[in-house]
Amino acid sequence: MLELILRHCTLPDGRTGIDIGIENGRIVAVEPALAAQAANEIDAAGQLVTPPFVDAHFHMDSTLSYGLPRVNQSGTLLEGIALWGELKPLLTQEALVERALAYCDWAVAKGLLAIRSHVDVCDPRLLAVEALLHVRERVRPYLDLQLVAFPQDGVLRAPGALENLRRALDMGVEVVGGIPHFERTMADGAASVRLLCELAAERGLRVDMHCDESDDPMSRHIETLASETVRLGLHGRVAGSHLTSMHSMDNYYVSKLLPLMREAGVAAIANPLINITLQGRHDTYPKRRGMTRVPELLAAGVPVAFGHDCVMDPWYSLGSGDMLEVAHMGLHVGQMTGQDAMRNCFAAVTTTPAQILGLEGYGILPGGRADLVLLQARDPVEAIRLRATRLLVLRAGKTIASTPAATATLQLPGRPTQVDFMVSRDGTQRGG
Ligand code: FE2
Repeated sequence: MLELILRHCTLPDGRTGIDIGIENGRIVAVEPALAAQAANEIDAAGQLVTPPFVDAHFHMDSTLSYGLPRVNQSGTLLEGIALWGELKPLLTQEALVERALAYCDWAVAKGLLAIRSHVDVCDPRLLAVEALLHVRERVRPYLDLQLVAFPQDGVLRAPGALENLRRALDMGVEVVGGIPHFERTMADGAASVRLLCELAAERGLRVDMHCDESDDPMSRHIETLASETVRLGLHGRVAGSHLTSMHSMDNYYVSKLLPLMREAGVAAIANPLINITLQGRHDTYPKRRGMTRVPELLAAGVPVAFGHDCVMDPWYSLGSGDMLEVAHMGLHVGQMTGQDAMRNCFAAVTTTPAQILGLEGYGILPGGRADLVLLQARDPVEAIRLRATRLLVLRAGKTIASTPAATATLQLPGRPTQVDFMVSRDGTQRGG
């Protein structure tokens, strides 16, 4: 007798009619018509069961601070950075913890159970670091929070930033961050990449830099990041976040860059919601989209994840922790409308970021942790189209969130009484 069986599941890889057996918080069987019984059985009714959503790029120290101390009137990156500078001295640890915990509640409700968050280390008090380390422990039973020591004002540009970053790592922050395009010169940017990669190599840590978040095609710090990854043997442990300058780069140069990234084992993290709004702001028309070259990176064999980046903070006044909204935007901005491309967008908010974060026990396979999300959709493409309702969210086999199915009731003569926005495979509208 097992603890729990989810029956009649469709999996993201396309398998249908699958039963998932769970015991002691772990998946013990994934097969059709599982010949076992359980104390608790849930009928997925052919709907999609996925491992949880994973956000590879977020800023939890600023989330839900929208309007503090004022709103971003222009909606631009530069006003956002200025606003963050105004907010930082006003931050208290209690308020930071409270906002971060509130965001984690939203995340859980949306089936988002792992987040890599950057934390600004430029404030010598390291107040945000302490707050998020506390939050990491508080949420550990239900959400994996991985922290990146992020020198927002530049590790070389801001006095004391390198020392603060080292202190943050000593305190238990687990990933080395950076922002080379924000250093004062190209040479300083490259020097910052070198020294931060060396620091990560010394300490055996992963690296995730805000890299080339600019429309300047000459911003080429990703090249240095990839070559340092090779030089220091950091293969598979390094990610470049944003990489928006790649959108504007010369095609010949990119044809050399992509194989270098592939050989270095560097991953790319695009942030479509944020970069479609923040990039191209100096353009009139035509106006560049600014997102990095996602289909081309994938074709070259570079893993690409999508991050949410911001939710209701100085840079972005929208968002709700919904990684399907992120995938939806990424799909549109990248023109990823082919069948495989749409499935890659789903992978970019599930399996690919799980691999980038190095999550243990992730995935629907025997031995994996029973972290699962039941969606009101029949496949990954439908999940993205509908930003599907998270009917159930399980952590280690226990339900930690649920949402009623999204069904509208109609009162129209001669028409169905309900719609759920799904179309039967024979092309007719489902509903009663
Ligand atoms: Fe970011």
